[in-house]
Amino acid sequence: MQKRYLEGKTVLITAGGTREHIDPIRFIGNPSSGKMGYALAQSALNRRANVILVSGPTQLKPPKKIRFISITSAIDMKKAVDSCYEQSDIVICAAAVADYRPENFISNKIKKSEEKLTIQLVKNPDILLELGKKKGCKILVGFAAETKDLLANAKAKLIEKNLDMIVANDVTKEGAGFESDTNIVKIITRDGEVKSLPLLSKRRVATKIFDKIVKAINGLRR
Ligand code: CTP
Repeated sequence: MQKRYLEGKTVLITAGGTREHIDPIRFIGNPSSGKMGYALAQSALNRRANVILVSGPTQLKPPKKIRFISITSAIDMKKAVDSCYEQSDIVICAAAVADYRPENFISNKIKKSEEKLTIQLVKNPDILLELGKKKGCKILVGFAAETKDLLANAKAKLIEKNLDMIVANDVTKEGAGFESDTNIVKIITRDGEVKSLPLLSKRRVATKIFDKIVKAINGLRR
């Protein structure tokens, strides 16, 4: 009989958006609600996994009985993820990580003066890309938030980041993406299989993602 549960497995999930502070009261951020990542955490818990959720600021309450790590910036998220990576069997990066951060943090509130203000940005580490380099036999799942060329961009990320699976969503579609309770995704696996899902609640999308993960673990193909 096929095994549905993930007993004894540790699932590490990133969720929400990161905030890159410019000064104490301003930051560069994005509208990620964290709903997809939190739905994944609940789904992993339902499958009896040990769950670690590393989350940027959200309005959501994390599920009970998980290990919850709250972070603010991409650098903080990377530190938290790296500290839990070794003990994890499955890693799902659902967070909307800021690709750039201000080069300098201004320790006091920036006062308005000149007509123009320039903020120099520097690249943040790509957390998932770095995990992919030390993948070993872990299952690595990424998300691809795209506004065009969905499949091509998502497939390129799957290869570049050395993933087992990528969940692609066109964030311009009604009912998909950042703040929505629903999502419209395509699950792409390493063997090139593309599974297009209809508009579903993020909870149902999470279930479908774990269906794929347990299939991969059981060595079965859908
Ligand atoms: N990701 C990450 N660290 C980053 C950027 C992205 O871990 N600094 C992860 C995301 O959590 C997601 C995947 O990488 O699982 C793809 O993220 P996405 O924002 O779609 O793409 P990027 O790799 O940032 O590339 P681009 O912004 O150029 O599309």
